[in-house]
Amino acid sequence: RTGYITLDPGYGNTGSCQSAITFIDGEKGILRYRGIPIEQFEQAPNFVEVAWLLIFGHLPNDAEYQTFSTDLTTCANLDESMKHHFEGFPRTAPPMAILSAMINALSCFHPEFFELENEDHFRVAAAGLISKVRTIAAYAYRHSIGQPYIYPDPALRYVPNFLHMMFSQPYAEHFCEPVVRDAINLVLLLHADHEQNCSTSTVRMVGSSQANLFASCAAGVCALWGPLHGGANVAVLEMLEQIYQGHISPEDYVRMAKDKDSKVRLMGFGHRVYKNFDPRARMLANVADRLLTTLGVQDPLLDIARKLEEIALKDPYFIDRQLYPNVDFYSGIIMRAVGIPTNMFTVMFSIGRLPGWIAHWWEQASSTGNKIARPRQIYTGAGITNHVPRDAR
Ligand code: SDX
Repeated sequence: RTGYITLDPGYGNTGSCQSAITFIDGEKGILRYRGIPIEQFEQAPNFVEVAWLLIFGHLPNDAEYQTFSTDLTTCANLDESMKHHFEGFPRTAPPMAILSAMINALSCFHPEFFELENEDHFRVAAAGLISKVRTIAAYAYRHSIGQPYIYPDPALRYVPNFLHMMFSQPYAEHFCEPVVRDAINLVLLLHADHEQNCSTSTVRMVGSSQANLFASCAAGVCALWGPLHGGANVAVLEMLEQIYQGHISPEDYVRMAKDKDSKVRLMGFGHRVYKNFDPRARMLANVADRLLTTLGVQDPLLDIARKLEEIALKDPYFIDRQLYPNVDFYSGIIMRAVGIPTNMFTVMFSIGRLPGWIAHWWEQASSTGNKIARPRQIYTGAGITNHVPRDAR
């Protein structure tokens, strides 16, 4: 493809990046975090524990887990003057724009995190970012609906605290059902890392210039926003709604997605690496079933998603191109069942992906061989030409 460049995220000139964090086998549909198959996190999903695993390379022992949990609790509040920034955004502002801006703004209130001298210092910075991104997300939502901000509750764990800040009313605390807590823990941890995807490569690219952790992750949020990447979970819900409203049948939507002229794609399907089922999609489909059954929720969009999957997986167009459901196909149905609005879905993806971005940033920043990423290109422009004065053009 002309003008196509090979991104070299800073390791040698092989055009690929070495990392010890996540392993993917796209042909077999395998995903492992620091060697642990993701299916093994399903029984007792704990996003905080997986965040530690990805960042520090091993599952935390009790002391490490308690230290990290305490860091997350003590770092949950934002500086009060950050509220003025929220007020500066229109209520209709896309939450991803607010998230990226506020992560960058965070660095202005925590200059101590600019120079991370040692791993303890880095651990507090990582916990601060993982904790505060949840508060920023909740405040962005509360601002969009004109509701007062709800402060984090130090007695609550990571996910219940997030849902508390999102949905509690000043005098009616939101209760987080265990099935909801586990579902959202699993949604977040299944998004936690995915090797060199577009947004993680962006974080490594920006971090390779020795930009600070907050600036690098703010750039990751911008990359994730695109509908071909993290924005696909919103596009999936819009697609399912379009079918549910009766504007088009599932069969006709699939037919349209096969027609190049339609410029329409079956959102939540296909993947650059997986040429088999995305293992996360399988797990999220089960979580959706379990959650909706336990909550007694009937969501017709889940039935439509199942129907689209059934049609596509029998269709030679999808089979020949090895197009299967990816992580975005079912995640939105779970978030919708919990009451999270569609425009917050990609923000949820960002909260989940943040530990992966932090892990990659630290893996690169703490390596001795870190070099600034400097991709090369295949030049396809004009040969040497002369400048012509304007009056002679
Ligand atoms: C994420 O990289 C990661 O790991 C990302 C991610 C992560 O965790 O970080 O996994 C998260 O971003 C998942 C992907 C979310 N995006 C979507 O669901 C959007 C819909 N999917 C597609 O746009 C597409 O499948 C991509 C972008 C995901 C992958 O695109 P590729 O690998 O570049 O494939 P391609 O665009 O070159 O398509 C190959 C063929 C083309 O047809 P032909 O030219 O061969 O005839 O497959 C077709 C495409 O038209 N195709 C689709 C399709 N996806 C690919 N046709 C219809 N519907 C689709 N969804």
